[in-house]
Amino acid sequence: MVRFQKQFYEEYWQYRKKIGYIYGKKHIPRPFAIIASLVGSGKKVLDVGCGEGFLAKFLMEKGNKVWGIDISEQAVELARRNGVNAFVCDIENEDLPIKETFDVIILSEVIEHLITPKKVLKKLKRYLADEGYFIITFPNIAYYKYRLQLLFGRFPRQHLYERSEHLHYWSIPDFMEFLRSCDLKAVEIRPVFQFPFHNIVSKIMPLRKLLEKFPNLFGYQIVVIAKPINEVKKSVTKRVEEKIQSSGSCLTVLGLGYVGLPTAVVFASKGFRVIGVDIDKNKVAAVNSCKCYIKESGLDALLQDVVSKGVLRATTDAVEAIKQCNTVIIAVPTPVKEGAVDLSYLRDALESVKAGLHRDMLVVIESTIPPGTTVSFAKPLLEESELRAEEDFYLAHVPERIAPGKAIHELLHEPRVVGGVGPRSTMKALELYSKVNPNLYPTDAITAEFVKLIENTFRDLNIAYANLIALMAERLGIDVYEAIGLANTHPRVNIHMPGAGVGGPCLTKDPYMLASLYKEFWGTQLIILARKINEYMPRHTVEIVERALRDSGLSVEGAKIAVLGVAYKGGVDDTRESPAKYIVRELLGRGAGVVVYDPYTEECFGAERADSLEDAVKNADVVVIVTDHPEFKGLNLETIAKLVRYKIIVDGRRVVEPHQAVKYSFRYYGIGYGKVFKL
Ligand SMILES: NC(=O)c1ccc[n+]([C@@H]2O[C@H](COP(=O)([O-])OP(=O)(O)OC[C@H]3O[C@@H](n4cnc5c(N)ncnc54)[C@H](O)[C@@H]3O)[C@@H](O)[C@H]2O)c1
Repeated sequence: MVRFQKQFYEEYWQYRKKIGYIYGKKHIPRPFAIIASLVGSGKKVLDVGCGEGFLAKFLMEKGNKVWGIDISEQAVELARRNGVNAFVCDIENEDLPIKETFDVIILSEVIEHLITPKKVLKKLKRYLADEGYFIITFPNIAYYKYRLQLLFGRFPRQHLYERSEHLHYWSIPDFMEFLRSCDLKAVEIRPVFQFPFHNIVSKIMPLRKLLEKFPNLFGYQIVVIAKPINEVKKSVTKRVEEKIQSSGSCLTVLGLGYVGLPTAVVFASKGFRVIGVDIDKNKVAAVNSCKCYIKESGLDALLQDVVSKGVLRATTDAVEAIKQCNTVIIAVPTPVKEGAVDLSYLRDALESVKAGLHRDMLVVIESTIPPGTTVSFAKPLLEESELRAEEDFYLAHVPERIAPGKAIHELLHEPRVVGGVGPRSTMKALELYSKVNPNLYPTDAITAEFVKLIENTFRDLNIAYANLIALMAERLGIDVYEAIGLANTHPRVNIHMPGAGVGGPCLTKDPYMLASLYKEFWGTQLIILARKINEYMPRHTVEIVERALRDSGLSVEGAKIAVLGVAYKGGVDDTRESPAKYIVRELLGRGAGVVVYDPYTEECFGAERADSLEDAVKNADVVVIVTDHPEFKGLNLETIAKLVRYKIIVDGRRVVEPHQAVKYSFRYYGIGYGKVFKL
């Protein structure tokens, strides 16, 4: 056992060094026995008093799911920087904003800080699973050393102990007495071997004797098995259900588009009474008659279910809906025009919220917005109502990350960043979203806004790099897919794939929103340049089409061109900012006859629309693949070869394997494909 603990202690210590041990050696080490007992257990852990999150992060990396709370904002900020799901919460005064059930609650050393530990234990018991338990660590030698130093004024009064004047110092017997009075099922005490010379000392005296003689020399890990709390859990669940039935859990979603509709449906499916609002009467009518106008896996069935049960209805009357509800989620468009964000839709939505705003209301902005918008734009606008954010109502930004086609799954499972204009707003928003998704990362509003933009910009930069090297590979006469595949075998390299262009509502605008924050700095050009490279790719695709036709003695003018796919990405019907828009219009503009085929959407950008792939490619001079729909991945080249007039493929998404194309006597051209196949 000792060796086992020692091994993890070493590992943990090395780990702390690796991720940046900022408080120097005087910082009190956590009892490593805790770590040893949780390694690889996959448990759900709440670390109360998580500090800068070293233990939490370590446990996360060992396969546990960990939440951390601490009263120190500074500590929580550091914990978050270490990637820990931490937030500010004073467990003595506030309830945890989450309704998670934990297997283990760790109170390491914090029990010493509490004025009312019994009350706290009782509170925390509510968050334990049936078999859950507390791990309480008791002061150790280092702590006593610290106390002495504090007494003589030599220990820096650091943030962690800012409440030291409230500390209640327990002796071991006192503490045991206290635990006995806490109505706990079982208590197990293990000494923590962190006394520096314990090896030498234990040679002189057996450990048990040593403990008896000098009980305060060692730290103790006290494992407290909580009482089975089935009854407690049942009553909590009942309370939550009752709350959901009451008007307190009525929620308004403003904007029933790609984000708003799935959001409204998901909350309704979790027991909320949801009123969806849109200025578009057609969308409102469609929702009320159970008609789903967005292609999303699982959305149709869920919509039917929640509308027929009467838990979701739609209206155009925003103010009336808001007056009836306690929560508003805003998911209206925030387009970027000529590099500047247009907040007019958001302003209109906020004006409606202001007109219906009432006490204790939670307002969440899910729309993508520039950093600072929630605090400097939304908050003052809503406060014109005389109500104050954080005091009378709550305001948060919870950016949306969903990928079209996977919205329902992602809303329920993918991590969400939750940022309030203050801690109370963050907590309120956490409480709301924890009802539908357990993966929440609390922060402040401005960080949440920034996070959304930097993650999308990162993806755009990565794709731009892939596109740039694709253009280089074409010049070098090599295949960029092979090159990227090989480069990505490097353990620290992950280059995205190039293509006919980047579309959709996010990557095409979010980088501009980010760049606009610091336009005067020349370095921001990195973001703009990446955008320009990606915006160039549809034009480059047309250039390849032109070259391909020329190589066969043809020209764009008068050619019959089959375009496969107009959606901006595979498997979805979304054509917003799709590269196909430029490609189709440019080819039409140059006098080509363009026929498009897309099994997901009826959009055709002014070209002729075919109902089947065969109809589209019939007598085509060139087949251009713009979208990587799954249906195009196993194209039957043999059939296509029989239907087309000229066997030319321009592949914008590497849907066709070049050697397969050649097998059926096609001339193959692709983005980043510099090789030439001779027939
Ligand atoms: N679509 C995505 O995949 C995605 C992903 C992440 C973030 N976002 C962001 O989410 C926000 C919404 O995007 P979307 O794709 O759902 O847009 P969308 O255009 O599909 O839907 C927005 C809806 O809001 C409605 N609307 C506009 N003003 C309104 C108002 N005052 N009151 C009520 N309804 C109003 C519109 O009629 C429309 O139906 C944007 O900021 C976007 O950048 C979108």
